[in-house]
Amino acid sequence: MGHSSASASIQLVSLIILLGILSLETIKFGFCSDDHNVRCIDIERKALLKLKQGLTDPFDRLSSWVGEDCCKWSGVGCNNITGRVNMLDLRNRYLDGLDGYGSIKHAFGGEINPSLLVLKDLDYLDLSMNYFEGVQLPSFIGSLEKLKYLNLSRAYFVGVIPPTLGNLSRLLYLDLSNFLFPNPIETDLQWLATLSSLKYLNLEGVDLTKATPYWLPTVNMLPSLVELHLPLCGLSILPLTLPSINFTSLLVLDLSDNDFKSTIPPWLFNLTELQMLDLAYNSLTGKLPDSLGYLKSLRYLILAANSLSGIIPECLGELSSLVSLDISYNTWEGTITEAHFSKLGGLREVSIANDPPNISLVFNISSDWIPPFKLRYLDIRSCQLGPKFPTWLRNQTELTTVVLNNARISDTIPDWFCQLDLQFDFLNVAHNQLSGRVPNSLRFSYDSSVDLTSNRFEGPLPLWSSNITWLYLRDNLFSGPIPHNIGQVMPNLTRLDISRNSLSGSIPLSIGN
Ligand SMILES: *[C@@H]1O[C@H](CO)[C@@H](O)[C@H](O)[C@H]1NC(C)=O
Ligand SMILES: *[C@@H]1O[C@H](CO)[C@@H](O)[C@H](O)[C@H]1NC(C)=O
Ligand SMILES: *[C@@H]1O[C@H](CO)[C@@H](O)[C@H](O)[C@H]1NC(C)=O
Ligand SMILES: *[C@@H]1O[C@H](CO)[C@@H](O)[C@H](O)[C@H]1NC(C)=O
Ligand SMILES: *[C@@H]1O[C@H](CO)[C@@H](O)[C@H](O)[C@H]1NC(C)=O
Ligand SMILES: *[C@@H]1O[C@H](CO)[C@@H](O)[C@H](O)[C@H]1NC(C)=O
Ligand SMILES: *[C@@H]1O[C@H](CO)[C@@H](O)[C@H](O)[C@H]1NC(C)=O
Ligand SMILES: *[C@@H]1O[C@H](CO)[C@@H](O)[C@H](O)[C@H]1NC(C)=O
Ligand SMILES: *[C@@H]1O[C@H](CO)[C@@H](O)[C@H](O)[C@H]1NC(C)=O
Ligand SMILES: *[C@@H]1O[C@H](CO)[C@@H](O)[C@H](O)[C@H]1NC(C)=O
Repeated sequence: MGHSSASASIQLVSLIILLGILSLETIKFGFCSDDHNVRCIDIERKALLKLKQGLTDPFDRLSSWVGEDCCKWSGVGCNNITGRVNMLDLRNRYLDGLDGYGSIKHAFGGEINPSLLVLKDLDYLDLSMNYFEGVQLPSFIGSLEKLKYLNLSRAYFVGVIPPTLGNLSRLLYLDLSNFLFPNPIETDLQWLATLSSLKYLNLEGVDLTKATPYWLPTVNMLPSLVELHLPLCGLSILPLTLPSINFTSLLVLDLSDNDFKSTIPPWLFNLTELQMLDLAYNSLTGKLPDSLGYLKSLRYLILAANSLSGIIPECLGELSSLVSLDISYNTWEGTITEAHFSKLGGLREVSIANDPPNISLVFNISSDWIPPFKLRYLDIRSCQLGPKFPTWLRNQTELTTVVLNNARISDTIPDWFCQLDLQFDFLNVAHNQLSGRVPNSLRFSYDSSVDLTSNRFEGPLPLWSSNITWLYLRDNLFSGPIPHNIGQVMPNLTRLDISRNSLSGSIPLSIGN
């Protein structure tokens, strides 16, 4: 379950990146197609045709690559004065479901012909989301010395990142993210230090174990860095000290899914411009220091699934830009009070969970507190919220996910909670002492899940909405027959657990639907 909250956060982070913390406007390219006087240069046209010959193109995406004026071909951009090709955008925009990869049916494959080197003014190259399975990342790319933007994300290149990339000293954006399990691309990272203009670096899923001792000093050679993404890189050392910090303009730092075992290094809190910080899925230990309060620009704080412990400092409430907080699956203790949220007016998502069954984190919040935020996503597990149903949810009219799991609540579901008229995609109040009848009026959105497991709910089995696909009612005091029309009312149910109740009668035929 921890994965679901973390991945939700990660999706949000990606969304923000899409929305463009970094503007690509700094890269300028013109299309000759707008200017009928400038035509492409013949040797460049021939070079592009050679490139086309080397590629497999099952969906015929390059069908426009005919005729004299290559500046009009799709994905090709030219300088509008010289007519030279300066942009090649061959990204596969056909996606394959939700896994974040391009659809193979539409992807280019085959070989990248070195004829590419004829395009001397190329400053933008995007081959992302294609399928060059088994092809070594060509080292001649390092000779395209005018490149400012290079994107080979999820293009299935294999082997070692060619050290010649170190020649691309004008690069601003480098995206080599490519998660190939179990044989990731690898690199010793030595080539990186010369890319001193780099603003954006993404090496997600690239094996950096060879660079373990010096990856951080190397990255610290990049004074213009604004975004650094190194998740899933097999890194195990996060140095606690740095002599001085070069990358002070860093806005986005993603070091999730590595193997860091140390405490959170103090230099991180000098990066006061930082907007998310993602250290989830490591093995970080120790406490969250008070210097957390320095990171006033933080929008995303994601520390899920580590071994952090101790109390959660009140300075959390100073992070007034925070949108998403995920500190789940650590071993916190102490209390959470109003002060922890005092200035968090923009907060939309909260995940706080301890590793069960040890409930050592207690919410001590007064019953008349009105939070400054309106949450969309609330996921609290194995913390003491009860014994009363949390009254500070009274004004939370925008919630779609509510998880109050194993939270020591001994109460009924209050009327005001139903009157909020929320539409849930996930409602989980399992493992409490909730009693009484469950309200009939709850509303659910398409493909939603409900988990009321292990409470003391009574009365007839609730049948809510046709939109519910998972319904867990196990271990309660529900009684009476299973409604005969359950299969008609909830035709899309794929999981149903009603065991350990006081039900009687027979299993209705409509379950067969
Ligand atoms: C040529 O490109 C430059 C830079 O991209 C742009 O500012 C200018 O408007 C373009 N001129 C024409 C005629 O398209
Ligand atoms: C690179 O391409 C991927 C996939 O097409 C895209 O999601 C990502 O934003 C691109 N990276 C940059 C820095 O533009
Ligand atoms: C490019 O990089 C390689 C390896 O780092 C180096 O041997 C070569 O001389 C460089 N070429 C240029 C043109 O700088
Ligand atoms: C900071 O970056 C500059 C330029 O890349 C480099 O010369 C210097 O050594 C870097 N400082 C540190 C402490 O790494
Ligand atoms: C971080 O900031 C503190 C206080 O401003 C300063 O003393 C320290 O040298 C800085 N650390 C680094 C690594 O820059
Ligand atoms: C529960 O957590 C508290 C505080 O962290 C700790 O002292 C105690 O040993 C833990 N108990 C178990 C059974 O893990
Ligand atoms: C909860 O907070 C109130 C008021 O701030 C305080 O008096 C009380 O001792 C706290 N209870 C616990 C268990 O911390
Ligand atoms: C909060 O909700 C209560 C009753 O549900 C309402 O009277 C009050 O005006 C609300 N306050 C805010 C700040 O929305
Ligand atoms: C099902 O979900 C959709 C969209 O999520 C919503 O518009 C619709 O009202 C829901 N239907 C019911 C019966 O709750
Ligand atoms: C039930 O599922 C089908 C296909 O999975 C979908 O088309 C339909 O909209 C769903 N209906 C509801 C009420 O969720």
